[in-house]
Parts: sequence; structure tokens; C-alpha cells
Amino acid sequence: WAALAQDHEDFLQCLSLHSQNSTSISQVIYTPNNSSYLPILQFTIQNLRFTSSDTPKPTVIVTPSHEPQISTVIKCSRTHGMQIRVRSGGHDYEGLSYVSELPFVVLDMINFKSITVNTETRTAWIQSGSTIGELYYRIAEKSKVLGFPAGVCPTVGVGGHFSGGGYGVMLRKYGLAADNVIDARLINVNGEILDRKSMGEDLFWAIRGGGGASFGVILEWKVKLLYVPQMVTVFTVDKTLEQNATNLVHKWQSFASKFPEDLFIGIVITRVNSTRDGEQTIQASFNSLFLGRQDRLLSLMQESFPELGLAKEDCSEMSWIESVLYIAGFPRGESLEVLLDRTPLTRQYFKAKSDYVKEPISKNGLEGIWKMFYEDEAEAAVMILSPYGGKMDEISEYAIPFPHRAGNLYKIQHLVYWEEEGEVAAERHMSWIRRLYSYMAPYVSKFPRAAYINYRDLDVGVNNQGNTSYAQASIWGFKYFKNNFNRLVKVKTMVDPGNFFRNEQSIPPVSLWR
Ligand code: FDA
Repeated sequence: WAALAQDHEDFLQCLSLHSQNSTSISQVIYTPNNSSYLPILQFTIQNLRFTSSDTPKPTVIVTPSHEPQISTVIKCSRTHGMQIRVRSGGHDYEGLSYVSELPFVVLDMINFKSITVNTETRTAWIQSGSTIGELYYRIAEKSKVLGFPAGVCPTVGVGGHFSGGGYGVMLRKYGLAADNVIDARLINVNGEILDRKSMGEDLFWAIRGGGGASFGVILEWKVKLLYVPQMVTVFTVDKTLEQNATNLVHKWQSFASKFPEDLFIGIVITRVNSTRDGEQTIQASFNSLFLGRQDRLLSLMQESFPELGLAKEDCSEMSWIESVLYIAGFPRGESLEVLLDRTPLTRQYFKAKSDYVKEPISKNGLEGIWKMFYEDEAEAAVMILSPYGGKMDEISEYAIPFPHRAGNLYKIQHLVYWEEEGEVAAERHMSWIRRLYSYMAPYVSKFPRAAYINYRDLDVGVNNQGNTSYAQASIWGFKYFKNNFNRLVKVKTMVDPGNFFRNEQSIPPVSLWR
């Protein structure tokens, strides 16, 4: 312990020594003695599973406001054997951006939040600590016909989100956020600042979907902005089992990835109280964004999915930025400024998993899922089905590390939430979702059973502590990246052979292959 405490002291001293060169780092360092330490640590934590008193805490939090301060943190961490956890929006499902078993520093990018939108070149530079809500707001401030295809929840940080892919309701039209990144700046393990040209195409490829935490600290992204119509149409249609939900979900599976790419219809499955008799039932909520006017949508639905019975009264026309609020679940008329609020919308205990579906699940298969949703632990369980197809089919699975392209009908996100504190409640709910995941096995992708890195799930495999081995990392690596995993390992070997940037699911360098 004495040695550990000395290391921490030395680390802090290293930071303050360097602070003479890097603009006043002492003002952005928080140790546990500081009254702001806990509020800063907890501010962006999304998952209450990682807020208990026995969750490992960082030795120090640094909230840099200047780039050289980040280089200083990297240099001192390397010299004094500290791990770095980089945090942008703090939405990591397994808390990897602010929890580590080894002594560590949290590099919180919250002050890196400038966004520069250029409507002439239709591009934007976005610092990594910005949220996607801020990005959408800044685009809409300048243009009514430009948008960007990233996620749904406005408080998600672009640092982690773009690093893992990043999808939302425009993915069928424009692909993922990472597909639309055209430049980036990062600080590497030697503390050097690189852009696309100086980092080279291999590293630039790796950070767009391969998870930022393995390769360096992303400072900012340059993205291309994309056309959206002045008016879009949204709808939400809820159907319970008594209203034919099973048949509708069954049909949707074959249609949703084949609709024109302007149309996204996702499904959210939950357990609800039936309005008819107060009994519990399963509800499938069909949520949609259509990049066009209502009349065209209605005739399209009449042609290709009449069973849903979409009517004019179900639809609302609005601007793209209003649809961002609608899809995020805000009430109609909510002020756009809500997109600038970084306070998490909800904070709950939760566990999530993901799956890809290549063949429609049979009605029997769906009924088995519903059955599991009636179990006690599933009171606040959610299943989100997001259709692929369109642009996602056109992009090669090797274009960026995110490999889940043609051949996937839709992606599933499995989620279970709970409110009670403590291990017992956590264990009960996590074992429910693990049973659901086992149940799903015959119906979803196989060899590997694919998963989405932004829905981080440590159940699919973790690195061995200390020396990350290729063999161990392959267990989770091929699920997230398929064959792109090997290219990611090569890039990692080139840019961080000593494996400084590491966590439970970071890419290992080849020198440590076993
Ligand atoms: P966070 O800061 O926790 O970072 C996540 C990972 O990236 C960590 O490993 C971290 O170290 C690393 N990292 C972060 N910043 C970095 C940087 N600057 N440089 C290097 N590495 C960095 N996804 C999706 O595709 N579509 C969606 O609609 C949603 N919606 C959604 C809603 C809610 C409520 C949550 C909690 C999550 C989502 N997600 C999502 C998942 C989300 O995309 C995923 O959790 C992202 O990694 C979050 O990025 P943050 O920067 O917020 O996370």
C-alpha cells in the first residue's frame, strides 16, 4: 500500500511538474480530497450498477481544457504505471470509461465540446466531449436541410459513439455516424497530435468503429453533413398481443429491411397493462421516421405494410430537428434547447445485450420471447428491433471495423432495468437477461454470434488482466468485428505495441499473441 500511495503521489507530482509547460493543469485535476471529485465522477454515469461505494474509483480525474494537458496525462500515466480511462459522454454500458480494477486516471473530455458547422462545405468539426444532442442542435441552428445520422439519445457522447459505429433512425439512408467521418484528430501513446494525414489510413480506419479506447485519445471528428427534407413524417403505432402484435412483428421482419431507404420503422417490445381488462400483455410499438411527406408515406404503407393499418391521424409532419426530439421521446412542443442539456434523461440499473437476425424468427419463437417477458424480472425489460438494409447493405463489411452489413435483417437490443440497489437484485435481473440470450441462440446470427460494440457486454468475453492475449481477445473480438478483428490487431501493434491504452475489451497488440 505504501508503494501504491507513493506511486500516486509521484503521478500527481509529475502532472504538476509538467503543468508549467501545459496550461495550468492543476486547475483541472480532482483527487478524492476535492469536494468536486464525486459530483464530477458521477455526473455522466448512466448505469447505476457502477455508482456503489465499492465500485473502484479513479486516483484522479482530469478534465482537460487544452490539448497539451492530455499529452501530459499520457506521459505521466506511462511513467507511473497508471491506466487511463477516457470518458466523453459516459454512456458505456459496462462503465469502462470510468471504472478499472487497476490504479487509473479518468480523462474526462467534458470541456472539449466545441462544434463548428460549415454549411458551404457541408461538414462539421466536433470535439469528442460534445454530445450528439449538441451536434444536432448546432446543425439545425445553421440549416434546415442538413442533418447527421447518429444515435437517438441526445446525451450520448460523440467520443465513444462514433468510435464504436453509432446508429440512429437514418441508418438505412446514410449508414452509421462512423461511415460519415472524413477526418479526425487524436493524441497517440507518445503524446503526439495526429490528423487523418499524419495518422495514416490504417489508424484512421481503426478508430471509426474499432472502439477509440484502444488507439489513443480522440480529440475531434470531422464529419460530412447530409441532406434532410424540410419536412419529415413520424409515427408511433402501439399494438398489443390482442391487437395482432405477434403477426405484425412476424411480418415486419421480412419487410422492414426492404422498405425504401427513406423509411425506418423500428419496434420496441415491452410488457404493459392491457387497457381491456387490466391484465398484463406484450406491446409492440412501431416507431418510424420517414424522410418525406405524409401522403407519400401513407401510400407506401398501403402498398407494402397495410396490416399495420397506418392512418393519417397516426402521422405528424415536422422539421428534421423536431423529429430528433420526437424520436428521443420528448413531448411535442419541447424547446430545442433540451438538446443542450447534458443531464442524463434517466439513470437506472441496467444490463444490455445485442443480437443480429438474418432469418425471420418464427411465430413460435416470438411467442417464447413473450413468455419470458411475463417473468417477474422482466417488469421493465425492453427489446428494441432496428431494421437494416438500404445503405447498410451497400457498404462493404470491411469499409470500417463495424462489420454488420448485408445479410442482416435487423439488430436486437435486449435490455433489462431495475430499481432496487444491491447484488441480489442485480444478479436476479442479469440472470434473466442471460437466460433470454440463451433462448435467442437458435434464432440469431451464428459463428460468430455477432454483437454491437456500442452495446458493450462483458459477458461476450473479456481480456485477461495484465497481458492481453490475442487468443483471449478473439473470444469477444470476432463477435464485435468479425474478420476486421485481425486488421485491428495489426493496427494496434503498429501504434501502441506496449498496450498502454487498454481495458477489458481493448484490441491486443500482436507482440503479445499467444
Ligand atoms: P463513454 O464516455 O462511456 O465512452 C465509451 C467508450 O469509448 C469507452 O471505452 C471510452 O474509454 C471510449 N472513449 C470515449 N471517449 C473517447 C475518446 N475521446 N477517445 C478515445 N476513446 C474514447 N448507441 C447507438 O449506436 N445508437 C443509439 O441510439 C444509442 N443510444 C443510447 C442511449 C443510451 C441512454 C445509452 C446509455 C447508450 C446509447 N447508445 C447508443 C450506446 C452508445 O453509443 C455507447 O455507449 C457509446 O460508446 C457512448 O459514447 P460515450 O462517449 O457517451 O461513452
